Amino acid sequence: LDNGLALKPPMGWMSWERFRCITDCQLYPDECISENLFRRHADLLVSEGYADAGYEYIIIDDCWLEKDRDNRTQKLVPDKKRFPSGLNALSDHIHNKGLKFGLYQDYGTNTCAGYPGVIKHMKLDAQTFAEWDVDYVKLDGCYANISDMATGYPEFGRLLNETGRPMVYSCSWPAYQEEAGEMPDYESLKKHCNLWRNWDDIDDSLESLMQIMDYFAKNQDRIQPHGGPGHWNDPDMLLLGNYGLSYDQSKLQMAIWAIMAAPLIMSNDLAAVRPEIKDILQNREVIAVNQDELGIQGLRVLTRNQIEVWRRPITPVTKSGHHSYAVAFVSRRDDGAPYRIPFTAKDLKLTNPKGYRVQDLYDASNKLGVFQSESQFITRVNPNGVTFYKFTAL
Ligand code: DGJ
Repeated sequence: LDNGLALKPPMGWMSWERFRCITDCQLYPDECISENLFRRHADLLVSEGYADAGYEYIIIDDCWLEKDRDNRTQKLVPDKKRFPSGLNALSDHIHNKGLKFGLYQDYGTNTCAGYPGVIKHMKLDAQTFAEWDVDYVKLDGCYANISDMATGYPEFGRLLNETGRPMVYSCSWPAYQEEAGEMPDYESLKKHCNLWRNWDDIDDSLESLMQIMDYFAKNQDRIQPHGGPGHWNDPDMLLLGNYGLSYDQSKLQMAIWAIMAAPLIMSNDLAAVRPEIKDILQNREVIAVNQDELGIQGLRVLTRNQIEVWRRPITPVTKSGHHSYAVAFVSRRDDGAPYRIPFTAKDLKLTNPKGYRVQDLYDASNKLGVFQSESQFITRVNPNGVTFYKFTAL
């Protein structure tokens, strides 16, 4: 969407994957979907250093609404017990921290969790979002006709635009089409949305992560060309800091999300993230790959002995037009010892005659020197882990 926004993949924090639809604030005061949760996470995003690393949006997902609209005005009403100060106060708090405010709604009659959706009040809701100083809208697609989405999503985007307030527009429309076996119209998505959820929701497990990676790899020929500045494919939230991924698997998701130019939207309890996981989330070199200005989405280029090679063209580009590359080696092996494997320059499609300076993005002390076209590149990957390098074209 050409609205000047999301020229790099958006970075931030969203409630859904970790906090779901917890609404009992008496039983779970620190976890329920409430203004306290979002204030606390805005504060933590700054105090724990995430904001300095580039994380910017604090996004409320489902379960923030009252069950009914306002009787008289038909306006959306945030849950009065859980958001007693109202969304303007919350949005001010987020903005005062130097952050941006995101909000979830649903194109259909109801959100997935059953709260009122926008379909009959699109204009009013777009205006209400602008009044609440929203900077980012995630529009889900439960309780709607899939055949209406091709006109309905662009329509809501137009209404957002008409408010005059710049809002990043995240569309879930293709995920619902894929589920129904329909082919998404990527040209329309690019025109009308800043990012879109391509497929299934992520859950807190390696299995879910691998399924998403496989979906993107198997369909990369039709998906990859459409990602770019202002219009990104979205494989869903980062799981790091939660229960399901090991240390190595956490590095793996972060590396592959960098390769895929994916939005870096965490969903975790920022007060509970262990220091070594926080280091991965804040790894400046990996984030720089994700945010690379060319905005070219990477691909899975090779699989050998259950080691996958994922590769993304990045800056700097030489005068003769050779890209630098971020290359991730992902092990799908679980046979114990780290697996040692050599690759040729040809395997990795690294064709710059002058070679590349190689940097280990997860271990600066690993000095790798220069890689020439005739040499072999040997890496050693932990089971269900990753090694991640930058090859800077010389
Ligand atoms: C489905 C979406 O894909 C999820 O990310 C989340 O927003 C839930 N709906 C909320 O109900």
